Amino acid sequence: MATSNPGWDVIEEVGGSARMEALMRAFYDRLFDDLMIGFFFAMSDKEALIASQIDYVHAHIGSRQGDYQGPPIRQAHQKMPILVGHFDRRHQILIDVLDQFEVPPHVREAWLGLDRAMRDLVIRQGDQAREEMGYEVFRPKE
Ligand code: HEM
Repeated sequence: MATSNPGWDVIEEVGGSARMEALMRAFYDRLFDDLMIGFFFAMSDKEALIASQIDYVHAHIGSRQGDYQGPPIRQAHQKMPILVGHFDRRHQILIDVLDQFEVPPHVREAWLGLDRAMRDLVIRQGDQAREEMGYEVFRPKE
């Protein structure tokens, strides 16, 4: 079906494997060093994340090639108290990097659409995050 397989391969559109790796490295360099969300990545293996994220995007947009073998997205982020502002920050960094690498508009649109579609699988509401971190949640009387 044309909508499920638009006939382009994300790695080819970006300019090949080396270019895709450079893009993803630029993305994770920025995420790891970011003042607002870098702490989430303090215990993470950057090389493994670069490889896994390339597989993820390759398997989910365009002609959906290859095989993402990591955990489902909700599960991968379950232990992290990611709030909507954290999500937005990562999303803006992704926009910056896709623009820096001059990713073609149809690929940019599909990639950012995939990212936004995953939002509710990775974020927590405030009280949920506080409870998961072990803080007491203050609930005023109605
Ligand atoms: C649409 C949004 C997102 C997508 C598609 C996504 C995708 C992924 C993928 C594919 C992995 C690798 C799983 C694995 O192979 O083990 C991962 C891990 C991770 N993600 Fe995300 N992610 C998203 C949002 C976020 C946000 C907003 C944050 C934090 C601000 C975040 C922080 C992390 C961290 C720290 C890991 C590594 C966990 C570890 O080292 O075990 N992610 N993500």
